[in-house]
Amino acid sequence: MIESKKTIIITGGLGLLGKKASYFFASRGFHVIVIDIADEKKEIAKNISYVQYDLTDINSYDFLINKIKSLTCNLVCLINNAAFNPKIEENIKGFGSFEELDLNTWNKEVNLNLTAPVFLTKALLPIFNNDSNDYCKIINVISTYGLVPPNQSIYNNLSIKTGHAIIKPIGYPVTKAGLAMATKYLSIYLGKKGFNVNGIAPGGIENHQDKVFIEAYSEQVPMGRMAKADEMLETLYLLATSGSNYINGQIIAVDGGWTTW
Ligand SMILES: NC(=O)c1ccc[n+]([C@@H]2O[C@H](COP(=O)([O-])OP(=O)(O)OC[C@H]3O[C@@H](n4cnc5c(N)ncnc54)[C@H](O)[C@@H]3O)[C@@H](O)[C@H]2O)c1
Repeated sequence: MIESKKTIIITGGLGLLGKKASYFFASRGFHVIVIDIADEKKEIAKNISYVQYDLTDINSYDFLINKIKSLTCNLVCLINNAAFNPKIEENIKGFGSFEELDLNTWNKEVNLNLTAPVFLTKALLPIFNNDSNDYCKIINVISTYGLVPPNQSIYNNLSIKTGHAIIKPIGYPVTKAGLAMATKYLSIYLGKKGFNVNGIAPGGIENHQDKVFIEAYSEQVPMGRMAKADEMLETLYLLATSGSNYINGQIIAVDGGWTTW
């Protein structure tokens, strides 16, 4: 059935932040379409449709767009949230020095974190509902690491504890910085075409990381703690709804002040 309710697409909607955002927007009356590579349809609830798709398969976006057209006639918002970001709490092997950088990992990050959101935006432009009396919204989920480079000192104590030299690799911050510039570029390009294009730059979200990491991270935050995933939701809501009708080309850091000093 084609849904006529206001529809918001959330990529990576089965992940830590994406899942919270999907349920949040569904509870606020949106029809949500989650696009994710994972096979977890059981997670999907009322008002949430699921499209399982590998967003790095950019050459097949026509197929993806046809699928979305079969689900909604009222697309008003895209949240580009999916990203390749090895988590310190899951696999420290993804953290290595610049000298260890390999081309496959670099290409994977560029494809998912930067190429996919740009080309998905392009592919979806013709099917946004610009007939509605409101602006359509494109929101890119960036990161503090797209605004400032990683402070590698936060990994020191965990490196000592694990005996593995932990260094945040170059791919993530570089692709996120690229997405920040894509946000600004598109805000200008689409400014008179009925769109607001903005970004959110979350700080590190607490998620069962090792205590020594949480302590080291928190010391660098003026507010003295990591973020909670829920603390991103109201900013996403602002950027997805009419409260942001005159906000364009901005990247709102929700980071406890990390990028302030
Ligand atoms: N977690 C943090 O501390 C943090 C901090 C700053 C910014 N962010 C940003 O917030 C966003 C969400 O982060 P998260 O921690 O929820 O990530 P996550 O890793 O928990 O979720 C990412 C989701 O993307 C999906 N995905 C991965 N590859 C895909 C592909 N090829 N095609 C489609 N889907 C794919 C995964 O299945 C997963 O559900 C990301 O853009 C991330 O960079 C996160």
